[in-house]
Amino acid sequence: MNEAARKTVLSGVRPTGPAHLGNYVGAFRNWLRLQDEYRCFYSIVTWHALTSEYANSKVIKEYTFEVATDLLSLGLDPAKCVLFNQSEVKEHAELHLLLSMIVPLPWLERVPTFKEQQAEMAEKELNTYGFLGYPLLQTADIIIYKADVVPVGEDQVFHLELAREIVRRFNRLYAPVFPEPQTLLTEIPKLAGVDGRKMSKSYGNAIYLKDTAEEIRRKIEPMVTDTRRKRRSDQGEPDDCPVFTLHRAFVEPARRDGIAAECRKAGIGCLECKNVVIQAIIGLLTPYWEKRAAFEKNPRTVWDILEDGNARAREAARKTMVEVRDAIGV
Ligand code: TRP
Ligand code: SF4
Repeated sequence: MNEAARKTVLSGVRPTGPAHLGNYVGAFRNWLRLQDEYRCFYSIVTWHALTSEYANSKVIKEYTFEVATDLLSLGLDPAKCVLFNQSEVKEHAELHLLLSMIVPLPWLERVPTFKEQQAEMAEKELNTYGFLGYPLLQTADIIIYKADVVPVGEDQVFHLELAREIVRRFNRLYAPVFPEPQTLLTEIPKLAGVDGRKMSKSYGNAIYLKDTAEEIRRKIEPMVTDTRRKRRSDQGEPDDCPVFTLHRAFVEPARRDGIAAECRKAGIGCLECKNVVIQAIIGLLTPYWEKRAAFEKNPRTVWDILEDGNARAREAARKTMVEVRDAIGV
């Protein structure tokens, strides 16, 4: 497809440390697919990380490296997409500031995640200017590339609606500079962690991409299964089994359906069933582990790729900012 006809995608990830399988199926798997079809900008949003981690800011750099290494090792290709560090493209900050002039405070105060996350992280002081502005900074991230499409999960839908509202306000007040970004909703399969709850870094139940084959085996083998299967001869229900959430994400449908049928008539044991998904995950991650080992041996290459991405992002962002300043008249 010719370059001008390709639609622009932007998405962002907060650098919160090494990625787990939930991050992979929830976002990264999709990012990899999109890079072939769209003009993609993928941002590691260091400033967004600071909105809640300002008191623990020293880890952000290491986490940026971790997430960049994860993405590149999974196959994100700098020849196809732009992977960059948000805080190295200062234009985002300028646009954020300019947008802050036109966004009524209630628009931000009514964002559901604002109060929710404050409650969830009650130990942190998050009644800050920056935290309130989180979705505004996200809007700047998106529209500074004139993104048409933003792949996100359900939890970000409200943020995208707000972004469109802000775009309409800007375009009406000044000049039609920005397209309204569309949400590309990523189906996020529910993945259980090793304790059966939702897989999450904060629950300490995650399987990390950089775990070894041995670690993955040791995490999955003792997982609780459908509690109906006390004995090998008991019939089970995969829909009530946390392990089967992994099958849904990683085992191809035909094979998975066969296993589900066997589980329901006690034709397969849980250990055998777990082995299938362990093998599937190991198969998926083997090329990733090889690439990761090479990057870890030579971390400079990761920083170089980011720096190149920063420069390409900056070039695009600068073009938009010329139009923005002109439209506003400053
Ligand atoms: N808010 C997003 C999250 O928590 C991260 C993010 C920041 C983002 N800027 C973005 C996502 C722009 C999509 C587009 O996951
Ligand atoms: Fe779960 Fe598989 Fe055991 Fe069925 S056989 S209960 S799906 S682990």
